[in-house]
Amino acid sequence: MTTTARTAASDIKDLALAAEGRRRTEWAERSMPVLRLLRERFARERPLAGKRLSACLHVTTETANLAVTLQAGGADVALCASNPLSTQDDVAAHLVKDHGIKVFAIKGEDHTTYYEHIRAALAHRPDITMDDGADLVGALHMIALNRLDDLAPPVRKWVETLSGSDRQALVAGVEGSTEETTTGVIRLKAMARDGVLQFPVIAVNDSDTKHLFDNRYGTGQSTLDGILRATNLLVAGSTVVVAGYGWCGRGFALRARGAGANVIVTEIDPLKALEAQMDGYRVAPMAEAARVGDVFVTLTGNTHVIRVEHMRAMKDGAVLANSGHFNVEIDLDGLKQTAQGPTRVREFVDEWRLGGKRLFVLADGRLINLAAAEGHPASVMDMSFANQALAAEHVVQHAKQLGKDVHRIPRELDAEIARLKLAAMGVAIDTLTPEQQKYLASWEMGT
Ligand SMILES: NC(=O)c1ccc[n+]([C@@H]2O[C@H](COP(=O)([O-])OP(=O)(O)OC[C@H]3O[C@@H](n4cnc5c(N)ncnc54)[C@H](O)[C@@H]3O)[C@@H](O)[C@H]2O)c1
Repeated sequence: MTTTARTAASDIKDLALAAEGRRRTEWAERSMPVLRLLRERFARERPLAGKRLSACLHVTTETANLAVTLQAGGADVALCASNPLSTQDDVAAHLVKDHGIKVFAIKGEDHTTYYEHIRAALAHRPDITMDDGADLVGALHMIALNRLDDLAPPVRKWVETLSGSDRQALVAGVEGSTEETTTGVIRLKAMARDGVLQFPVIAVNDSDTKHLFDNRYGTGQSTLDGILRATNLLVAGSTVVVAGYGWCGRGFALRARGAGANVIVTEIDPLKALEAQMDGYRVAPMAEAARVGDVFVTLTGNTHVIRVEHMRAMKDGAVLANSGHFNVEIDLDGLKQTAQGPTRVREFVDEWRLGGKRLFVLADGRLINLAAAEGHPASVMDMSFANQALAAEHVVQHAKQLGKDVHRIPRELDAEIARLKLAAMGVAIDTLTPEQQKYLASWEMGT
């Protein structure tokens, strides 16, 4: 265990960091007007009253504002990390000390502690779960399907102490869940397809006010921020290889080009590749890009996108980073087997020697924006987390009608978040005139 401030109700690094966490959380709150409006309504209406909610999210200042909003709505909140490197220890301390929220998260926690914290979030016996990458819901499903061998040891040991009916009650007690990210939604849709999903899930990532902004502008900016904080490299004039031209890849390619890089995109989807080509980037297979890139960034949600054969082709000094959800996009196991290292040369930078060349891997191949920087700016998380709060409310209000499937929040709520965000930014738009409404609804009028 990597703990220093452990109580029955929390496991965090150091409570003394709370004041700094509070100051930084308040700073983020200034850029989260939509969530603030929701918090005010939640405090009046208490839509989550009496509900236990376990959230497995990156423990950042923005998440702190979400947790406090859920608590204002009446929820009893427990929070664990969705990545071992993304926790901001001062924020964890602030939530425990100033709000009495149960937090189980320590930056840099080892694999055992990470899963011990997931166990603690499960032991909170949630009515609602909230995930970023489906680790919490994944564990619940292994329990439901009695696949205890697939559970990490800390969770498995605990489950083995529960009776059969207790295990059933744990899973049956969950009315519904929400999922933040693309990778989690893909896993949940696979569960629904296989007919094993145990409760309804709201795919927050599917909201337009989430993926169009968070994945594109949030990941775009914060991934560049993470790489710069880790390396302090000059982007201008360098060649940056972007693997994946989905929402995150598009955003990052745009920011890398904006900073003066020559950007090469790699893709497996012909449509996305065509889009990248017409957006003005060079498109090439990884085997070709590997020879010329200075910095490589994976944003695919896929596994082993950069393999040893690619690494062998890279130039001396190439930098490798990942901003996709899991640390599987760069084949680090393959690298470990063939290269010498690692030597830590700076915080978040490991040097590997491969065939007389040096390769630098950032943050152990984990989400670079959350490991080396602070994750997305609050202004973009304002919309993502407004979706999360509304999704939790939607689960409470409609769990019985929602099937055991993956749903999105109603489009009207999505549009309402966009309307509130625009209003908060002081941006006004036009409305349809009666004549225009009639015109758009008619088919008789031609040239
Ligand atoms: N870093 C963050 O804070 C953050 C934020 C949001 C999402 N994510 C994660 O980033 C990943 C991507 O999310 P997204 O919303 O952009 O998904 P997306 O589905 O929009 O895009 C992924 C793209 O990767 C491409 N791809 C798949 N395999 C590939 C391969 N072998 N080589 C090249 N391209 C390949 C796909 O064709 C697709 O275009 C997911 O894991 C998601 O969970 C991270």
